[in-house]
Amino acid sequence: MITVKRISWITVFLFILLPMQAQKFQGLAKTPPMGWNSWNKFACDVSEAKIREVADAMVVSGMKNAGYQYIVIDDCWQVSRDTLGFIVADPQRFPSGIKALADYIHSKGLKFGIYSCAGDKTCAGRPAGRGHEYQDALMYAKWGVDYLKYDWCNTDKLNTEGAYITMRDALYSAGRPIVFSLCEWGNNKPWLWASAVGQLWRTTGDIFNCFDCEKNNGTWFAHGVLQILDMQEGLRKYAGSDHWNDPDMLEVGNGMVVNEDRAHFTLWCMLAAPLIAGNDLRNMSPETKTILTNEEVIAINQDSLGIQGFKYASKDSVETWLKPLSKGQWAVCVLNRGKVSKNFSLDWKIFSVTDSLTRRVLNTAGKEVFKVRDIWQHKELGETRKSLNTEIPAHDVLCLKLYK
Ligand code: GLA
Repeated sequence: MITVKRISWITVFLFILLPMQAQKFQGLAKTPPMGWNSWNKFACDVSEAKIREVADAMVVSGMKNAGYQYIVIDDCWQVSRDTLGFIVADPQRFPSGIKALADYIHSKGLKFGIYSCAGDKTCAGRPAGRGHEYQDALMYAKWGVDYLKYDWCNTDKLNTEGAYITMRDALYSAGRPIVFSLCEWGNNKPWLWASAVGQLWRTTGDIFNCFDCEKNNGTWFAHGVLQILDMQEGLRKYAGSDHWNDPDMLEVGNGMVVNEDRAHFTLWCMLAAPLIAGNDLRNMSPETKTILTNEEVIAINQDSLGIQGFKYASKDSVETWLKPLSKGQWAVCVLNRGKVSKNFSLDWKIFSVTDSLTRRVLNTAGKEVFKVRDIWQHKELGETRKSLNTEIPAHDVLCLKLYK
């Protein structure tokens, strides 16, 4: 007969077992991760000297103060495996080894990220994780890795969810909390299953530094900012604290004109996207630095509610995007997708919106009056009693915060 005493012992035993069960590390990305990754600017041209300089620049430029934390080396740091199967970093480019680099980055008060891939080889053809997951996870933990981007090239017939779960479990059993960034380009709808696996998942193929274009790379397409933006349709309900849609890393400072960079950054903030800069932080124009360190727009991205914004209206190439913020505030950003500047008017007195996902209501038509702040001009524009009439340049945004 099972006595009450025995049942309570079984309960205690189950509770002891629970934490040992593999899972993702919880609470590592309560707001979208912020950092830098080498790929968009440097591709395979990475070295410890360069990564150290970028880490220095992240501090000196004010980006660290603005909230950027992770320095992530993307593909091409690895060259082979040793006789026991352990991954070997390129000895020419990383002569001091990865651990020393991680230590350096930590000494700057930053966090360190690395890249691998679920297949036999990475996308650039370097040795990847398949069959070495637990061994690699142990190595990453030993080196002091804080963030792993895990790609999806050369995966043959692997089951996607299974492959990413294997790596998640390997990281968990290695014991060091590591943000797990899934990079399978949205092929297998990771938004449906990856919230239990990692902290962020790519929703699309690769971005490139163009505002409104597609690039045919033979077997795959790279997408411009607007193309990626449009591919986010319908995904907001899957994102939230600790599990983010990732529309790919930033191209700010990589060749688009300044208004396009500003629009790109603003939209990524409205999407509650991870903010992973992809430019050369050692050589930033004042405009690039101003965009990447605008703490008011970053605050919209990092808002504690963690609600991804949504497109509310679209007319004549002008889109109005809304994002509910904590303390009853709202971000309202207006995007001009067109190639010529556009007039934009908004009569707050007849404006009332209910967010269909969260049921939050923004109603300036009734008694509620908000103050309106232009977060790019850092300027108060008055209250919602007064209607808004403005002009938005081509490929640019107006971004407002409504608050009381
Ligand atoms: C894929 C990823 C990119 C980058 C490269 C590296 O294309 O989507 O972000 O990591 O691989 O080879």
